[in-house]
Amino acid sequence: MKLSNLLVSLSVIVGAFANSPNIYFKPDYSLDGKVVKVLQKWNVGGDKVEGYYYGTLFYFATQDAGYFGPQPRKEGTTNHLTYSVFGYGPYSDHPNCYKSADGGPGVSCAVEFPWEYGKNYTQVMERTAHNEDGSNRWTGTLIDDATGETVVTIGEYWTPKNYSLLSSGGLTFNELYWFTPKGNECIPISTYVGFWPEVTLEDGTVFTSTINTFTGLDQLIDPCGKAANKSNQLAYEIPGGFVFQNGWLNSEYEEKD
Ligand SMILES: *[C@@H]1O[C@H](CO)[C@@H](O)[C@H](O)[C@H]1NC(C)=O
Ligand SMILES: *[C@@H]1O[C@H](CO)[C@@H](O)[C@H](O)[C@H]1NC(C)=O
Ligand SMILES: *[C@@H]1O[C@H](CO)[C@@H](O)[C@H](O)[C@H]1NC(C)=O
Repeated sequence: MKLSNLLVSLSVIVGAFANSPNIYFKPDYSLDGKVVKVLQKWNVGGDKVEGYYYGTLFYFATQDAGYFGPQPRKEGTTNHLTYSVFGYGPYSDHPNCYKSADGGPGVSCAVEFPWEYGKNYTQVMERTAHNEDGSNRWTGTLIDDATGETVVTIGEYWTPKNYSLLSSGGLTFNELYWFTPKGNECIPISTYVGFWPEVTLEDGTVFTSTINTFTGLDQLIDPCGKAANKSNQLAYEIPGGFVFQNGWLNSEYEEKD
């Protein structure tokens, strides 16, 4: 994800994600700077392919943003989880994390973890410590919904005072970050089911966002999409959330081949 533009405001973020399907969540502006926890529950379908990043973005009220989410991997390899933050000031000494984010300032964390296809997980980004100087520690973890247990820590970093707390809203992107087509190959088949994100305030109040809008659903990036003159990346709402469906035109195209 090219996020060099992400430093200024949400209106810039809209531009930065223009090439992927995105779902934007409705914020409640009265919660800006009061959020200490973000939950995103998801389920990645059974197709074992590489190249997608289903990232959910959160943003700090006075500063920058960060995002986290799963990246599926092929059969025989371990699935992946990421967790990052952008801008000057954040730091980490967690073993899963390193300095810099997408080539710019920030912190990136990642872990190979065998999350399973077709299962529900909840990823959590939460303030887990804070100091009198206004700095906050943020921990990214994954819960297995079947047991309710935290199964892995993706990473952990600190933000200085000028990052404040989080806002509500944000977005989830459906990014095909890696695709080298061979011949007439269409994009890999992969599905992400996302549930409406939940944010929690310092006083324990919970707010659940719903859809504001989908964007980027008009990309004709592969032969399947071009043949059908429709995007091969579908997005729609379901009760409680939404679906990103990649490669939904593949079988139709292959039949005609
Ligand atoms: C935020 O504060 C840190 C020091 O704590 C500083 O390095 C950084 O430049 C500040 N960020 C901005 C955008 O002012
Ligand atoms: C995942 O969660 C959804 C919504 O709560 C539920 O309808 C579905 O049955 C769950 N799927 C699995 C595999 O547990
Ligand atoms: C493709 O679809 C767009 C609208 O989605 C339409 O404007 C355009 O004419 C179509 N192109 C062809 C070749 O059918």
